[in-house]
Amino acid sequence: MTAAADTDPDLIARVAQTTDRIERLEHQGQVVWVKREERLSLRMRLQKGAGASAFERERAALHRLAGLDVPVPPILAEGPDFFMTPDSGVSLQTMVRDDLGADGERRAAFVAAAQGLAGLHARRISHGHPRLKDICWKDGRITFIDFERFSDKLNTPSGHARDLATFVFSAIAEAGGPTGDLDAARDAYRTADEQGIWERTRTLVRRLRFIDWLTKPLQFRPDGKSREFKAIPATLRYFERG
Ligand SMILES: Nc1ncnc2c1ncn2[C@@H]1O[C@H](COP(=O)(O)OP(=O)(O)O)[C@@H](O)[C@H]1O
Ligand SMILES: [Mg+2]
Repeated sequence: MTAAADTDPDLIARVAQTTDRIERLEHQGQVVWVKREERLSLRMRLQKGAGASAFERERAALHRLAGLDVPVPPILAEGPDFFMTPDSGVSLQTMVRDDLGADGERRAAFVAAAQGLAGLHARRISHGHPRLKDICWKDGRITFIDFERFSDKLNTPSGHARDLATFVFSAIAEAGGPTGDLDAARDAYRTADEQGIWERTRTLVRRLRFIDWLTKPLQFRPDGKSREFKAIPATLRYFERG
């Protein structure tokens, strides 16, 4: 176990009692999150292979990105099978689902997220899978969490394009279509984009057109599970616009 010098021993003792993969702990008015390595069955471990676990990939990414002045949470404490981060606030997914952020606050969060993503990309860093639920907003600042898909292979222009496609797709899926908030985010990304990532993303999305045809039957399922599938043609149309 290692811990930042100011981590309270009582808090560390509480971590030892956590069992869930993700737990939110409140301690002396401070909120922290504890993330644990997934306990996989032997069969799943064999299926997933011997490569570094998603957990270790994320831990290594957070260590590497710390101190680079990018919006990722610091690791407050860690042990063999867990790490602790400070609360980064409410996710953009929650803001959309619960209609939070009056007076343009949600708009500001979307713009900050796009600027944050462009900032990562300007440093040749990709998040790996930036969905709305992995972007948090607190006190006027955004933080990217969940770096389980971080990989040096994605720290390239095409990896940045994948990030951007993921972000736009996730925003469309959550809201059931494009929104003014998404348009504002797109404009902010494009303003900051000095590597032509937007155009590269348009090409990427065009190449993925066939997924729309493959998933047509799923887009019209009556059981309410069609939301993400319906977002596929909507995302294609969004990038066709320009
Ligand atoms: N540091 C944090 N600040 C705020 N919320 C967090 C934090 N860490 C985790 N969460 C919450 O827990 C959820 C799951 O954590 P995440 O790291 O994304 O794990 P998973 O791999 O299960 O997606 C997040 O979507 C977010 O709601
Ligand atoms: Mg997540």
